[in-house]
Amino acid sequence: MDAINIGLIGLGTVGTGVVKILRKNRDLLLKKLNVPLILKKVAYKNLSRPRTVDLSGIEITNAEEIINDPEINIVIELIGGYEPAKTYILTAIKKRKHVVTANKALLALYGEEIFKTAMEYGVDVAFEASVGGGIPLINGIKEGLVGNNILCMFGILNGTANYILTKMTKEGVAFKEALKEAQEKGFAEADPTFDIEGIDTAHKLTILLSLVYGIPINFEQIYIEGIGNIDPLDIQFAQEFGYRIKLLAVSRQTAKGIESRVHPTMIPIEHLLANVNGAYNALLVRGDAVGNILFYGLGAGMMPAGSAVVSDVVSLSRNLIKGITQRVPLLSYLPEKREKKPILSID
Ligand code: HSE
Repeated sequence: MDAINIGLIGLGTVGTGVVKILRKNRDLLLKKLNVPLILKKVAYKNLSRPRTVDLSGIEITNAEEIINDPEINIVIELIGGYEPAKTYILTAIKKRKHVVTANKALLALYGEEIFKTAMEYGVDVAFEASVGGGIPLINGIKEGLVGNNILCMFGILNGTANYILTKMTKEGVAFKEALKEAQEKGFAEADPTFDIEGIDTAHKLTILLSLVYGIPINFEQIYIEGIGNIDPLDIQFAQEFGYRIKLLAVSRQTAKGIESRVHPTMIPIEHLLANVNGAYNALLVRGDAVGNILFYGLGAGMMPAGSAVVSDVVSLSRNLIKGITQRVPLLSYLPEKREKKPILSID
């Protein structure tokens, strides 16, 4: 294989980060892969919007052109939302292209169909950037913790919500102002309700549950409560009692099933998770063998999320170069071994 050809659909915050990294670290990536990664085509809406990245040498086109280009090996979907992202991904898979996506909302609702189709067509769908931004926690769990029975997970998985809570706690900034700042920094979703109401965190927890427990993806069963009703007084009182309020994703194995929920939680100030601030994310995972592991890093933003997307591109490229298709279904489990353990909202 002389080169890996890539098509990028979407040039918002994350897409821009991907282009920047592929350009800045081109030589480094070539040394690591020994085959060049060529960003052949980019498709994006709103062509008149000024872009902050050098697109010279890249063909600007539309999504269909990318999906139908027989030379393109990997399609990166970064437009977010359900449609047309789902159609683009499914069509790319059927054209036997590997797909990289950061689209947690899409995977949390339609992941079963997408991963099943990818299995059928013998390609991979990689999604490191969908949970935890730049933290390599999907691979960390899938590979690094594969020998463990995961007993529980506690995660701060939304950078925007954590940024707002941190600003309210440390600087007394009003909710709306903190949200505006998070939006300006490119952390928030197009619809920030998803961030504030815990929906984005629940999308990410849904993906993690399937990854860790091999259960079908089932977003509807997660109990969700956001931070929209948190008042500065709540934060002040929590502080006086020695707690910080964080939007937490919780999952625990119980005798009855897997408890899973998202809600604001009072965490003792001395706890590691209480000290995860700003757009940082963290996931505390307890494995029966390894004990407690903390994944920590920037959970949102152009370059961290771009880093995760590029890591997927490189790992798919390694397989392409070796002529291997991973054909690992969603996650660490073979399809016939997927479990039907119930998800419990609240135990
Ligand atoms: N809106 C998301 C967040 C982006 O704030 O965490 C990263 O998934």
